[in-house]
Amino acid sequence: ERGSHADYMAKEIDEQPAIAARILDDLVPHIADGSLWRSLEAPAFERIAVLGCGTSLNAGRVIARAFGALGGIPTVSVVASEASETILDPGTLILALSQSGETADILRALDQLEPVSAGLVAVTNNPASSVARRAASVVDCNAGPEIGVAATKTFVAQVITGVAVAVSALVATGRIDRSRAADLTDDLRRLPDLLAQALEVSKGVVPGIVDEVLDRSGFIFLGRGPGVVFAEEGALKLKEISYRWAEHYPAGELKHGPLALVDQGTPVIVVDNGDPRLASNLSEVAARGGRVITIGGAGSTIPAVGMSMSRPLVGGMDRWGPLEAVVPLQLFARELALRLGLDVDKPRNLAKSVTVE
Ligand code: F6R
Repeated sequence: ERGSHADYMAKEIDEQPAIAARILDDLVPHIADGSLWRSLEAPAFERIAVLGCGTSLNAGRVIARAFGALGGIPTVSVVASEASETILDPGTLILALSQSGETADILRALDQLEPVSAGLVAVTNNPASSVARRAASVVDCNAGPEIGVAATKTFVAQVITGVAVAVSALVATGRIDRSRAADLTDDLRRLPDLLAQALEVSKGVVPGIVDEVLDRSGFIFLGRGPGVVFAEEGALKLKEISYRWAEHYPAGELKHGPLALVDQGTPVIVVDNGDPRLASNLSEVAARGGRVITIGGAGSTIPAVGMSMSRPLVGGMDRWGPLEAVVPLQLFARELALRLGLDVDKPRNLAKSVTVE
């Protein structure tokens, strides 16, 4: 039931800190000793290919970055509907991400890829689903049922669960030592508070920002490094529920073409993970009259979220992603959609579970 919430999307966004805490209560004792990974009985691997669609693909990309940045594992991300077996080999473990576990593009891609891979680990919110049934190793991301068509809490649950699996795999396979795994686990434990803080701060400032951009038809989302996939997720949420055009780019690409889109008042939303090179990208936007909205970092429009340089980090969470930055992005999309009179739980043309290719 959505209780006192205006819509399921609001409820599901609000639940994120509590879901993060619950997932971590379950997983934390099994991360740094490698037992989470060993319990999956997954095969040995040299490389990781993450497979997914939409928001689940974005969650997979964050998890892939954790395998790569924390353990030096080569990773690729595969858009399920574009899967081709030529990218795989017997050393590649497939990590399939699917909230519903019923997405036809994933099932079809697994037919193609699994036979030429090391094996399959499925991360899903539905352990009784088709994807889960065909995987020997299944991780339940344990977000509870998600009613809003736009994925919110399941993104957060997939990322936390997947990064916990990554850290556990790295220690269980001897790629990092236990004390490093313990530091990385400490970073994960901070997420419930960071998500809660992001909610509180964002609820205060997002409505005012939306006021200023209500009449805009196009939005640009930028990030660098681990922030890029969050820019992508923010743009996806905006498109899905507000029906406004949104593009996302690695910020360094702006000057290679998309900068031509920027004119007086163009909203440019930036996930600021503290990369010093963002400043020159943003001054190029500002010089053309763009309306820069920054998430994270000192002096940002939406402060106290994102991997600001000032945050004391123990294990290097900044290397895989500013997870709490997704909160203002979700709230921004929802607020804009509501102000435009749209149904945020049931966007036009979309279904919660996509069972056709
Ligand atoms: C976005 C969204 C979709 C799904 C995609 C994959 O908010 O909901 O992009 O993420 O259709 O669905 P699952 O995760 O069920 O495979």
